Amino acid sequence: MPLEILLAKSAGFCFGVKRALTLTERAVTSEKGPIGTLGPLVHNRMVTDYLKELGVYAVNEVDEVQSGCLVIRAHGVPPGVFARARNKGIRIVDATCPYVKKAQTWAKELHDEGYQVVIIGESDHAEVNGLIGWAEGEALVVEKREDAQNIAPGQDIGILVQTTQKASTVEEMVDILEPKSASLKVHHTICKATQERQEETADLAKQVDVMLVVGGKNSANTKRLAAISSAEGARSYHIESAEDIKGEWFLEANRVGVTGGASTPEWIIKGVMDRMEEQRKDEELAKKEERHEEDQEKRCEEESQEEKVSLEKQEEEEDKQEEDSETADSTEEMGMEDVEKAYEKTFINLQEGDIVRGTVVQVGQDEALVDVGGYKTEGVIPLQELVNIWMNSPEEMIQKGEEIDVYVVSVEDQDGKLVLSKKQADEEKAMEEIKKAYDEDELITGVVKEVVKGGLLADIGLRAFIPASHAADRYVEDLESLVGEEMAFKIIEMEPKKRRVVLSRRKAIEKETARRQKETLENLEEGQVIEGEVKRITDFGAFVDVGGIDGLLHISEMSWGRIKHPSEVLSIGETIEVEVLGVNRESGRISLGRKQVLPNPWEEAAENYPEGSIIEGKVVRFTNFGAFIEIEPGIDGLLHISQISNKRVAKPEDVLDLEQTVEVKVISQNPKEKKIGLSMIEVEQDRAKEDYQRFIASQNEDSENVTIGDMMNKDSQE
Ligand code: F3S
Repeated sequence: MPLEILLAKSAGFCFGVKRALTLTERAVTSEKGPIGTLGPLVHNRMVTDYLKELGVYAVNEVDEVQSGCLVIRAHGVPPGVFARARNKGIRIVDATCPYVKKAQTWAKELHDEGYQVVIIGESDHAEVNGLIGWAEGEALVVEKREDAQNIAPGQDIGILVQTTQKASTVEEMVDILEPKSASLKVHHTICKATQERQEETADLAKQVDVMLVVGGKNSANTKRLAAISSAEGARSYHIESAEDIKGEWFLEANRVGVTGGASTPEWIIKGVMDRMEEQRKDEELAKKEERHEEDQEKRCEEESQEEKVSLEKQEEEEDKQEEDSETADSTEEMGMEDVEKAYEKTFINLQEGDIVRGTVVQVGQDEALVDVGGYKTEGVIPLQELVNIWMNSPEEMIQKGEEIDVYVVSVEDQDGKLVLSKKQADEEKAMEEIKKAYDEDELITGVVKEVVKGGLLADIGLRAFIPASHAADRYVEDLESLVGEEMAFKIIEMEPKKRRVVLSRRKAIEKETARRQKETLENLEEGQVIEGEVKRITDFGAFVDVGGIDGLLHISEMSWGRIKHPSEVLSIGETIEVEVLGVNRESGRISLGRKQVLPNPWEEAAENYPEGSIIEGKVVRFTNFGAFIEIEPGIDGLLHISQISNKRVAKPEDVLDLEQTVEVKVISQNPKEKKIGLSMIEVEQDRAKEDYQRFIASQNEDSENVTIGDMMNKDSQE
């Protein structure tokens, strides 16, 4: 009887956990700073590893987070946590499960109404801890009968339940508390999803011989499922992933049930189901091989018997022929039977599992016929054995007259046909290449064909699985967008016998990036001018990709002029020219400069700002010996304190403001040393001189314009 595998409908992520993961993944793309989760987002090592790869880390305390964003997981937290995070300026993504949130609201309400809040649950569970906080720390936790019995009688009692508790436990505790309470309010906050999952597990466990309960070893709800399953009498194994499965568990089993905890992602359950499917196939194959061996033995016996008979007959015939030759003319005709046997001996002998070359003689809609030269009949390739996965019609794959390799599936099926498979022959060949690539740690190219539960399928000569977390080097919201793409993959797992291959695009990108980085580091030299793409901008500079490796372009090296933030001169995605200022091949650090490839304003300074010229500038910096005046971006001149005013100036900022525009005179310059001396006093003096000269000139003009007549008139009037 073939092994039957039954999967619980509710296995895997519950609504609340799925929502928490989605919110976190969204935060990865939308939030700028670091992202932390308060405690592991789910109790599953593989999910937390996946999050780590996305750059999301679990912290134990709010105080461990300095900036960025904090995700509150589905279990929820006490209200004080929100306050602490807000005080520190940390953004919060509240992924508290809405069912838990409701229970928190009740905890607060009951406490405010004067009830003694009692929580039925595990005292060290995060959800319970959160509820206690919402009851202002005054809730009691009941884990077992004795806890309930110890509660003082005569109070108004308000009961809440940890969402993953068993209904029977709650009933038992309520029965103890009811007679003790003056007034009793019970909020049945067991999550329906949990209840259904537990009931389904119990039902499934009754129907099967072996139960596989999939989930983290530290997941409370998975442990509970394993306990429920064992209690129903099924041999139960709590496993974390397909890797934990052992073939001997199923030796005597006919039916296997699979369920998963609320924190178990789909891709892990799929891995378990795939492994079980392989287990089933292996068992079938083993049985088939057993049958095949028995048939072979039988056939061998028959053949040796036939051979014996034939030898005897041959000897008899030879004797007879001798006799005949003595008695008659040599008529050496053979009978029809003998001719057939001799003819049959010219046929090749095929075995199941052989790979032979044949010629396609016919291509139909459902099958193709192949002549494997030397075999007595033509072989048939059923449609499903034609190619490994994706095909529109058989003609697309093979044509009449074409020579192909085929795998012998069965020498004689129930209709006496030779059944062949092109698909399996191709897979064998592909597997050789894949194994070589795997052994030599090489990448392999394939085309993404379809989205399946938990990831993608790619064609690399056979079907290969890509887990969703390995589909790219970043989170891909729409896996469909990758279908049809040809790309290189790294083989991360393979079992040649089972033709099982698991690929990673992410690791291929990492490998390719590491190769490019090594190459870049080897080839980069100080002083080289190269192009790069701005990848990230921070307050202190920008990271520029210069061939697979990010070099740091410090803010001080961005421009000749003064800038407050790198975003004033750069934008993400922009391609810029930079000069390599330094390369550290050991640490892989590269420092870059941009101003070095831009025109240097000091080169033109001598010509543009000759001594004696009066120009305008902006006050940009004060020192105790003067102020620096920006004449143009990249050129600051010194206005010495003695050159600011004729009056005594104690500090430059007493008379000047930052950003103020002032008129100054160039009184000295040394562009080589990037120095220009400025004076405001001399501007004033020049102005005064000019005014005086203008005045004198106007006086002279006045005296030149006086006529003798004017003078006479003047005299006569007097
Ligand atoms: Fe929420 Fe129920 Fe899951 S309470 S976190 S949906 S188990």
